[in-house]
Amino acid sequence: MSDHKRTLVTCALPYANGPVHIGHLAGVYVPADIYVRYLRLRGEEVLYVCGSDEHGVPITIKARAEGVTPQDIVDRYHKIIDESFKGLGINFDIYGRTSSDVHEKNASEFFRKLYDEGKFITKESEQYYDEEAKTFLADRYIVGTCPRCGNEGAYGDQCEKCGATLSPEELINPHSKLSGGELVKKKTTHWYLPLDQYENWLREWILEGHKEWRPNVYGQVKSWLDGGLQPRAVTRDLEWGVPVPVEGAEGKVLYVWFDAPIGYISNTRELLPDTWEQWWKSKDTRLVHFIGKDNIVFHCIVFPAMLKAYGDGYILPENVPANEFLNLEGDKISTSRGWAVWAHEYLRDFPGKEDVMRYVLTANAPETKDNDFSWKDFQTRNNSELVAIFGNFVNRAMVLTHKYFEGKVPACGELQDVDKQALAEIPALKASLQKNIEGYHFREALKDAMGIARVGNKYISDTEPWKVAKTDMERCATILNVSLQICADLGIAFEPFTPFSAKKLRDMIGSPLDWDVLGNQEILPQGHRIGEAQLLFGKVEDAEIEAQLARLEAIKAAREAAAKAEAAKVVAPQKEECTFEEFEKMDIRTATVLEAERVPKTDKLLKLTIDTGIDKRVIVSGIAEYYAPEDMVGKQICILANLAPRKIRGIESKGMILMARQGDGKMRFVTPQETLANGATIG
Ligand code: MF3
Ligand code: ZN
Repeated sequence: MSDHKRTLVTCALPYANGPVHIGHLAGVYVPADIYVRYLRLRGEEVLYVCGSDEHGVPITIKARAEGVTPQDIVDRYHKIIDESFKGLGINFDIYGRTSSDVHEKNASEFFRKLYDEGKFITKESEQYYDEEAKTFLADRYIVGTCPRCGNEGAYGDQCEKCGATLSPEELINPHSKLSGGELVKKKTTHWYLPLDQYENWLREWILEGHKEWRPNVYGQVKSWLDGGLQPRAVTRDLEWGVPVPVEGAEGKVLYVWFDAPIGYISNTRELLPDTWEQWWKSKDTRLVHFIGKDNIVFHCIVFPAMLKAYGDGYILPENVPANEFLNLEGDKISTSRGWAVWAHEYLRDFPGKEDVMRYVLTANAPETKDNDFSWKDFQTRNNSELVAIFGNFVNRAMVLTHKYFEGKVPACGELQDVDKQALAEIPALKASLQKNIEGYHFREALKDAMGIARVGNKYISDTEPWKVAKTDMERCATILNVSLQICADLGIAFEPFTPFSAKKLRDMIGSPLDWDVLGNQEILPQGHRIGEAQLLFGKVEDAEIEAQLARLEAIKAAREAAAKAEAAKVVAPQKEECTFEEFEKMDIRTATVLEAERVPKTDKLLKLTIDTGIDKRVIVSGIAEYYAPEDMVGKQICILANLAPRKIRGIESKGMILMARQGDGKMRFVTPQETLANGATIG
């Protein structure tokens, strides 16, 4: 393929603070797996490395919230994630973890060398410190009162109520989101990697040297470089992480984004303690990082600068194919909001359909723009593509071979135009598939593979061997021979995309896994015995889709209820001062509702006839959303009796009912604690 000896493929190390979901799979792991399987099919030497990213503040926060240790959290999710990958056929050569000893040693050594060689600068700054939790806090872990709108739940970087951009210094009464405690300012010193010193080198290496990178990756790098790079802190004041391996750095750990990418190297060392360097320090190795778009700066700027600073022959990535994001049913996927389809739950709910998710996520891959996953589309792609085209074709070819030729590949007679045309399409699709995978266009590559299934399905439909069998067995033999060769092609072409089904197909017909024979017209020799025909793909039923949609609906409903509960707590600020005399002017008193009816053609208004103790009168009140007319009749309420009369919808309204109104708009009428005479004055 090119002039290298081997390829090292890394996948972004997922944070072990939650399970992996379809967004991770579509963005990183499924495309990487297609690529690795393809290279191996081409006989390339590949090392496939991943692992859990087990440091970082969110893990500490989660541990605190659950009252367990960070190690407990990462142990739990490391296991779930590891099993999910295996379940989907994503078999890394090593799935390591950044809490391992190998990693701690390797990351410390990496830092120490840069430190010893003076590659860092140090800076002192003042930062908020939580005395109770004994930790410095980053912006979003600080909450306080917004100086603009008074919202008491504003974050250190933003007030979500009024939208103001804030800094922690601007917050009134800042306190820790972690412990709820007070914050003090403390001086702290950190080590920084002076990225500005690498700017020209990065420009040359990427902007000049890698114009072939995906436009989204190249564009992001360019805008970072054009904006000018700043020194970046590589240490933090935290307890959970790799301790900074220098004297006087007690209580400091490596910043998670410094240690995590070194994890790729650590995991390689763990697997290959003696030969890892040939994967990381040899010009014969091609390094490819698969990541999501939020990781671009770290893999294209920070990590390369770290490797460059380290020197010692470390290679740099040849490509960084980053994907955009996948949405779920039109909404951003979010671990914290629970809006996701989790890999381990999918595997539980759809046993035997591992390939279907791989297929759908590839067919919809967010390669050039954000894309959407919907369960309806999942069902359609399964039922009308995998089942109706691929599976149906294979099944027809196999069943007819058993029916007419005792399960043996029949002889291929003279080829007619229709046969030649079908067969001729396959080498073209193979060439396109190769080009697309090698260019990281996996969605297009899948179309090519599916193109082969379409060719087969159309061929068998057009040639109708079940009809031909009645008059011309020799011709029927040729058609089934051609069809079975195409089945064998599919067993190879689909190996990168749907490996379980491709293997099942090869096992059923007894065909080889050999890229070189794909497109060959005699993969299966005449007389070769095929196995029993089983269905390659099963239908996805409406009920299965409805169950998934119902689960998502429930998540949405719970979220909306929680948001409402939050809004209910928001308290209106106090009004401008008024004098006792001003208050005295208001005639507030008790009254009882005698009659109540809806005001026609309105949703909000009730017409109430009330006994005020002074008179009987009508008040029109905007409470119909909260009270039905029958709820009001006979109730004692409080009114502002001397409000100037107003005409509302043609009805004269004399006075106002006193209502208590909370933050989410919910209202209740005010009533004396015990029933009193009507007309009792309030004040
Ligand atoms: N854990 C990070 C994320 O999920 C990815 C880390 S990739 C590595 O966004 F390079 F740092 F390992
Ligand atoms: Zn605000």
